[in-house]
Amino acid sequence: MPAQLLDGKRIAEALRLETAAEVSAWSAKSGVVPHLTVVLVGEEAASAVYVRNKRIACEKAGIRGSVLTLPATVPQTELLELIARLNTDPDVHGILVQLPLPKHVDPQAILDAVAPLKDVDCFHPENVGLLSQGRPRFLPCTPAGVQQILMRSSIPVAGKHVVVVGRSEIVGKPLALMLMQKQPVDGANATVTVCHSRTEGLAQVTRTADILVAAIGLPDFVKAEMVQPGAVVIDVGINRVEKGLVGDVDFAAVSHVAAAITPVPGGVGPMTIAMLLQNTLRAARGLHP
Ligand code: GUN
Repeated sequence: MPAQLLDGKRIAEALRLETAAEVSAWSAKSGVVPHLTVVLVGEEAASAVYVRNKRIACEKAGIRGSVLTLPATVPQTELLELIARLNTDPDVHGILVQLPLPKHVDPQAILDAVAPLKDVDCFHPENVGLLSQGRPRFLPCTPAGVQQILMRSSIPVAGKHVVVVGRSEIVGKPLALMLMQKQPVDGANATVTVCHSRTEGLAQVTRTADILVAAIGLPDFVKAEMVQPGAVVIDVGINRVEKGLVGDVDFAAVSHVAAAITPVPGGVGPMTIAMLLQNTLRAARGLHP
């Protein structure tokens, strides 16, 4: 029997409507419109599309979305000056620096410069530290999107074995932290294993997963033999190949083994933006108590 499709697009739409209602109520009360500023460096086509989608999603939710576009040649010092200005601008509640940055810019230096209270990506070391201690200020958008898909699809996580393939700072590492957290909420208290490119016997490990998350950035990397029959498979990958967009999971084969699976596109991708809107409202509220 083919796997149940976990429709991230539908879940994200529901979340966005919830956020829009919260924004509307809070703005009416406070007189403040939440404001996200996205910094885009260069003209990489994929990044430009992502940023445009973020701006449109903001507007639909009643959030002001500004995009500051800088040339790919902008010196790092200028970028740092811009971030310093945004940090102290009381009219800006959330700052997102679109990645990747050009080669001459040190991304860590840039991300560390974003004021922690405006860090809606949850990339600042202070926010990562708070997250790791189980007292998050913000939840990182893509991992939070994965958690929401599980929770809103009534997939139990507590006590289950989650295997995350990929240890990136943006997805794998923070997602592992969130799912293993001791919290009185759904979507936590899992037993988490993190695998990566150097893991020996990877397929043996992934086959023990009740929930398998692929976030390694390689097209069709997870094959049917790597999945335990009846597992839930979450595909975080977005890879541009000749035939179009594909995930990190060989969807055609794995969907005959898994009990449930997220498609690409239309799975985790739309959730990331939905969570960004949540974080922007959270930042605005935090800065305007
Ligand atoms: N580029 C791709 N994904 C992301 C993300 O989640 N945040 C930022 N800032 N840039 C990205």
